[in-house]
This record gives sequence, structure tokens and C-alpha cells, in this order.
Amino acid sequence: MKQTYNPLNQNLLININGTLHHRDHAGISPFDSAVQGGDAVWEGLRLYNGRIFKLNEHLDRLRHSALALAFTDIPNHATLTEEISKTLEANHMTDGVHIRLTLTRGVKYTSGMDPRLNTAGPTLIVLAEHKPPVYDRDGIRLITSAIRRIPPDCVDQNIHSCNLLNSILAKIQANAAGVDDALMLDLNGFVAETNATHVFIVFNGVIYTSHTDSCPEGITRQTVLELCATHGIPHQVKNLSLSEVYRADEMFCTGTMGELVPVVELDGRKIGGVDRPMLERVAGHFRTLTQTEGVPVVSLD
Ligand SMILES: Cc1ncc(COP(=O)(O)O)c(C=O)c1O
Repeated sequence: MKQTYNPLNQNLLININGTLHHRDHAGISPFDSAVQGGDAVWEGLRLYNGRIFKLNEHLDRLRHSALALAFTDIPNHATLTEEISKTLEANHMTDGVHIRLTLTRGVKYTSGMDPRLNTAGPTLIVLAEHKPPVYDRDGIRLITSAIRRIPPDCVDQNIHSCNLLNSILAKIQANAAGVDDALMLDLNGFVAETNATHVFIVFNGVIYTSHTDSCPEGITRQTVLELCATHGIPHQVKNLSLSEVYRADEMFCTGTMGELVPVVELDGRKIGGVDRPMLERVAGHFRTLTQTEGVPVVSLD
């Protein structure tokens, strides 16, 4: 999956600390903590018909990540929502939009890693783009990366930080192999997630997904698990080995950027058949939710 340039995004206005800048002039300081050390947290949100799906869950996760990193002066949900609305209104956006919300530890008074060099408060960036779900609906192809996901005693992946090097190294492998993304294992050899999405398999009528020990607590993942519970679909969270994945009846990935998408191939093996009844069922319920739920953030007039 390689995204192409969308001309609709040519004149985006980007919100940095409450001020809107044309994309060609938007910038942050070389002293900003994001530049100095990837010391920042982020959320990807999606706008459907003027409403952001699971807005509060995303803002909670941003706050929890920032608290784990001991950020100070974390903006509250009302302030964050206001800045998001302001950005969407300014760009006349109502649907098919992905929002990257970034909170950095802020500008340092001199370069260095020490958080005590930060006295200016955090930097907030709201980047909204016209971006429909990014993956091919017919399915994606994966390889298993040699790069393992980081365990919680090194860098907890539930801190949703802007340091994406672990994912980027895996994505480089996927690119070199000519596939869409890479499956990543944890240090025990169990499936963690892909470089960008959570992973589900279906086997004998049961939906399985892995624990979140070595991956973020995904909001789409959680939504899928809740949909299974609501609609009586058998499901289980467990350690998944590669051989269990290879023999799966169906496999799919989840995430805000690409929603639910089938995986048709892993490590050169075809996964599942032409029909994907369980994915279709869950994706149908997911679509209904995105069309009916969400927090209104822009008017549709
Ligand atoms: C590494 C990683 N995995 C999976 C996901 C998907 O999570 P969500 O469903 O909350 O968008 C994300 C999203 O930001 C991510 O960064």
C-alpha cells in the first residue's frame, strides 16, 4: 500500500498551538521535543459525516500516553475537541477525513534529551487530511518481519508515541519484499500486530486476536471485540502462533486509518478462500456504527 498525493490536500490549514498555517508554511521549532527525541504522543482519528468516531476513547488514549511520559499541562478533552473543530471548519471538512493529533513535550530552551529542559508547555498539532481508508478493500499481502515488537519493559507500546522506528524498520522489509505491510511478532514469537494495524484471524467459526502486551490498545480492535460480544460472535483474545495464522479460515487487520481489511496472503501462503463471511459480517456491523455513532464536531450546513 503506497498512498498517492491527494490534490484536495494542496491548501490544507494546519493548526499549531491554536494558530492555523498553510501547509507550506506550517512548522515547529528545531528545539521542539518531537524533533529532538520523538518525545511526543499522537492519535489518528476519523471523521464520518461531521462526527468523529470514538473521539473520547482517542482523547483518553492520548492523555494516558502523555501521563505515562510525565508531560505537564496536558490540554483537556474540551480544548482538544475545540481545536479539532476549528481545524475542520477552516478546511471545510465533513467526511472522508483522517486527523493526526500530535502532542509533543514542547519546545526546549536548549537542545538535549532531559525533560527538565522543557519549560514552555506542550505543542499541539492538528493535521486533518482528506484521506479515505487507505488499504485496498480486496485485501492486503503481508510478510512476517524479522523485527520484533518492543516489550512493555523496554518501551511500552501502550504509550502511543511518535517514535515509530520499530514500525518503520518492519515497513522497509515489507516494501523490499513487494508486499503491503509486515506482520510483527513479540519477543516470545507470538503475533503482536502489523507495523500499523491489529490482527484478527478466524478459525472454525471463532474470531481470535492477540493480547496487547506488545502493541497499543487499539480502538478499532476494541470496537470489533465489543461488536462480537453484542452480536453473539464467538471470540477470544489469546497468544497466536504463526502456524495458527497460516491455517486460518480468514484473516483481517483493523485500524482507524484503514478500517477493517482482509489479509489475503502471508509469507507467500494464501490465507482463507474467496469468501470471507465473518469479516463481511463484522465489517457490516462496524459500518453501521461509524454511520450512526460518533461525536459531532462540525456542522453539516
Ligand atoms: C502501531 C499501531 N497499531 C495499530 C493501530 C490501530 O489502532 P486504532 O484502531 O486505535 O486506530 C495504530 C493506530 O494508531 C498504531 O499506531
